[in-house]
Amino acid sequence: MTTIDDRLELTLRDGTPVIVRPLIEEDRALVAEAYRRLSPEARYQRFWTRTGEMLGKKMLDRLLDQDRTNHMTWALLDPARRFPGVGGASWWRNPENPAEAEISVMVLDDDQRRGIGTLLFAVMWITAFRAGVEQMVAYTLVENHRAAKWIRDCGGAGEWDGYKLVFRWDLNNLDALPETPAATDLASWLAVLSPRLL
Ligand SMILES: CC(C)(COP(=O)(O)OP(=O)(O)OC[C@H]1O[C@@H](n2cnc3c(N)ncnc32)[C@H](O)[C@@H]1OP(=O)(O)O)[C@@H](O)C(=O)NCCC(=O)NCCS
Repeated sequence: MTTIDDRLELTLRDGTPVIVRPLIEEDRALVAEAYRRLSPEARYQRFWTRTGEMLGKKMLDRLLDQDRTNHMTWALLDPARRFPGVGGASWWRNPENPAEAEISVMVLDDDQRRGIGTLLFAVMWITAFRAGVEQMVAYTLVENHRAAKWIRDCGGAGEWDGYKLVFRWDLNNLDALPETPAATDLASWLAVLSPRLL
């Protein structure tokens, strides 16, 4: 059972105050509405399916059934907005390789390029690492150039497996982060948030 004890009050680089916290069961309507607000392209890039505006119960369950040990989903909220949901990110431990987890990140179309994906990624890095995860993996569609560039900029080492792009990070090795604005941002969020996320 996840509580909102981990609620972080943070400021984006453009000065916007935001709240970043784990999703709770009561967030079902929030997540469904955020999904509805995504462009069809962004929905496809994140979920790899074109089933319209409605997020199915199975996927909602998959996002919300957290146990902190094997899966977490966090949301970034702008409390000044009528609809506060702006982005979310998850990690799931690989049951066949407990030292590895898969990460996924999603930011509403009009809020991309504000540093939100990178901030959420830092939260995923720390919470997964604290749960004993050492390698993070992310999958993208080959044509999702934007996400692939962002992931590479954040230090993900990628390869094509014949179907999708597979990116990996060694969470123990911060020295492997490249000298890009995104990786610099990531490293500074890791430094700021590590003491706050126990
Ligand atoms: C991929 C995705 C999550 C990235 O989220 P985002 O909030 O746009 O990411 P950020 O703003 O943190 O970083 C993206 C851009 O900002 C740049 N950036 C990050 N920090 C920066 C900084 N401090 N100064 C300047 N630029 C910076 C990055 O280099 C990148 O630049 P680019 O757009 O020119 O490539 C988002 O595009 C998305 O939701 N896509 C659809 C879903 C998807 O594809 N998910 C798969 C990911 S697993």
